[in-house]
Amino acid sequence: MKNITILEGDGVGIEVVESAIEILDRISKVYNVEFNYTYAPIGGRAYEKTGVPLPDSTFEACRASDAILLGAVGNWKYDNLPVELRPEKALLGIRRKLNLFANLRPVKVFDELLHASPLKEEKARNTDIMIVRELIGDVYFGEPKGIMTKTTFDNREIKVGFNNMIYDEDEIRRISHVAFKSAQKRNKKVTVVDKANVLEVSRLFREVATEVSKQYQDVEVNYMYVDNCAMQLITNPQQFDVILTGNIFGDILSDEASTICGSLGMLPSASLSDGKTPYLYEPIHGSAPDLEGKNVVNPIATILSAAMMLYYSFDMKEAHDAIYNAVKQTLNEGHRTLDIYRDGDSLCSRSKITELIAAKIN
Ligand code: IPM
Ligand code: MG
Repeated sequence: MKNITILEGDGVGIEVVESAIEILDRISKVYNVEFNYTYAPIGGRAYEKTGVPLPDSTFEACRASDAILLGAVGNWKYDNLPVELRPEKALLGIRRKLNLFANLRPVKVFDELLHASPLKEEKARNTDIMIVRELIGDVYFGEPKGIMTKTTFDNREIKVGFNNMIYDEDEIRRISHVAFKSAQKRNKKVTVVDKANVLEVSRLFREVATEVSKQYQDVEVNYMYVDNCAMQLITNPQQFDVILTGNIFGDILSDEASTICGSLGMLPSASLSDGKTPYLYEPIHGSAPDLEGKNVVNPIATILSAAMMLYYSFDMKEAHDAIYNAVKQTLNEGHRTLDIYRDGDSLCSRSKITELIAAKIN
């Protein structure tokens, strides 16, 4: 029996999670494994209910489980709340408290969706990148941070906001090992992405990544400044295998890279720790409140996140592949949600495409 904490979150989070569970239920039957789901509130809906976006009971449910599946958090209506009460804070809190330092974001283009990519087909084809993003350091968590006032030279009181981009060598080392190990199982190349021409923290990042690379002689390593990487992802994505980077650069580059696949709605992610805490799986897209409840959102990112859960938390590689292949086959038959639809395709609702995918897992 596997205990999974389900964090639906806000907006379309509820629906995409429902789809992923339908797929997990199918896996449960076919592979004869039992999943037990515990639902807990997080984000804006938790704030409405309890006054905080991450109630203690939710965190405890997560900690006590074997794995966590999350939909999405956030809603524009909370834009004016203090940072501490915003839905996003809940997600950052869980990542940090569960020590989920390694965020894996695979960017793999389905041939079936090449037409939906904003890149020319010959550029997008065969793109297969693993973005390894450090998840609990950097400007996201660095101290000191805040908004304070200062006095200018001409004696005016003005506000100043600041965050701290900070990494220590232990943090860089552990995420580097994740990246190089991942490359060993893939195409044996790591691109370290930083801003070492300007930032001290990036110079250390590069230095430590280089030191770690020496332990992986079979893996080729190269270095790229983040601005250049943003450009190269669009002009030549096929050159990348594993991208190793910090929290903020990884956040930005993964949204950019997702478009290569035709839609933000296609990309899953896994957030891993040192193995002492349960891992968390979530689509990289947000809560899209404008689409909430309309049954039109693309559930594939969350379905593939559930597949990653089977792989990384439950060591069920075959079941992982079964989901991936079911998604591929469904796309191959021309079924599409709105975000990846073009004339002539079979347009599916969220629940319809879920049903089609589930039926292909046998
Ligand atoms: C992501 C998201 C989060 C992040 C937000 C919702 C806090 O953009 O997972 O990429 O910035 O990490
Ligand atoms: Mg993001």
